Amino acid sequence: MSFRSRIPEREAKVQGKTRGSLERFERARRALAGGVSSSLRRSARPYPLFYTHGAGSMVEDVDGNRYCDYGLAWGPLILGHADPEVTEAVVRQASRGLTFGAQHDLEYQVSELLTSIIPCADQVCFASTGTEAVQVALRLARAATGRMKFLKFEGHYHGWMDNVLCSYHPTAKEVELAGGHPVPAGRGQAPQTNTLVVEWNDQAALQRVFELHGKDLAAVICEPMLCNSGCIAPQPGFLAELRALTLAHGTVLIFDEVITGFRLDLGGAQTWYGVTPDLCVLAKAIGAGAAVSVMGGKSEYMNLIAKGEVVHAGTLNGNPLALAACGACLGRLSREASTLYPALRARGERLRSGLEAILRQSGATVSTQGDGAVFQVSFMDAPARTYRDTLAADRALYSDFALGLLDEGVLVLPDGRWYLSTAHTDADVDATLEAARRVVAG
Ligand SMILES: Cc1ncc(COP(=O)(O)O)c(C=O)c1O
Repeated sequence: MSFRSRIPEREAKVQGKTRGSLERFERARRALAGGVSSSLRRSARPYPLFYTHGAGSMVEDVDGNRYCDYGLAWGPLILGHADPEVTEAVVRQASRGLTFGAQHDLEYQVSELLTSIIPCADQVCFASTGTEAVQVALRLARAATGRMKFLKFEGHYHGWMDNVLCSYHPTAKEVELAGGHPVPAGRGQAPQTNTLVVEWNDQAALQRVFELHGKDLAAVICEPMLCNSGCIAPQPGFLAELRALTLAHGTVLIFDEVITGFRLDLGGAQTWYGVTPDLCVLAKAIGAGAAVSVMGGKSEYMNLIAKGEVVHAGTLNGNPLALAACGACLGRLSREASTLYPALRARGERLRSGLEAILRQSGATVSTQGDGAVFQVSFMDAPARTYRDTLAADRALYSDFALGLLDEGVLVLPDGRWYLSTAHTDADVDATLEAARRVVAG
């Protein structure tokens, strides 16, 4: 790709205009491990930038550079930065107290909203992160079935606890050496004997696992659209088969809707694909940027928490600050759902197809997939069907493209996933496509 010859020059230019970020990153690294607060943020190029504020689709760094933001804090900012309604609700609540460690009106109000929106949720419970909510769901499944094993899919991310942080992004070599066993993502993780792993969209493999282990499986957990590895949709019939097999074997089906929730549709992937799980996990978009997550599901399971048989605890669970953000965000999304989601999807599709066309015209081998509000751009010749397909993508080329966009004032995540918010306008999309044209023109 000829534009790559200009990338060293662009990188030097970006470094020149982000000196304030570099100084801060070097200072941060002395006291803060790695200089960032989540391992996934380490891969930013040329180095992690420091931001001061954002508004709508735009975010500004400490050096005064403004970017049209398609990273959206890795997904939560469904309404964009500093949405006025959410900000007002949070500020109003902050002046009354950040937390009580006790009951307040927002708890049942937001719960009622959620149970009216989410198909599987007769009841819900709150936590602060998706990671925690996933663990409550798995614990409920174990308690309800009396079984210990669960199944996850290769490439799916369910937070950073040992039992789920395996076979997330293994290399081809690691997959080969593991011989079907879960591959831990890093050092210090305990070996997982209760976690089984199969490939996404492989119906035959799924059926085999159920034949062999069905009676021992407490749960199957999946991202109903595989957003963490290429935004891979389920093949037609795959989720229905998953639902049928779990029902036939008394296994709890858990949809991890941390990304898809309130993004694919108001009712998440379970509404979009028309398959209702037993339990689901929601985070990111639900709080519009506040630290809040939800686990919800059918009464027969949630009753175990209600009766105190399954423990679900947390000092900040359901804190009023987070629920104020959540209530304001859900209020807006549900009030405007009939127009907001079609518009979000249409704008995202225009951006996705526009980027694909520009990259193709420049001679790149590119493939894009996903939904309007969350999609993937990969330099590979055909859309991925499984995680292993994504290993064919040219990541170094994407990293160069992302660096070029950064120089043009467009902020994207390093892994090729793009998020859109309701604050992005048609003018933002046009400007971004123009920026992409300039990048590939070299
Ligand atoms: C699908 C999915 N599940 C769970 C998590 C973990 O959520 P959190 O980072 O809030 O712990 C993430 C985070 O990116 C996610 O994408």
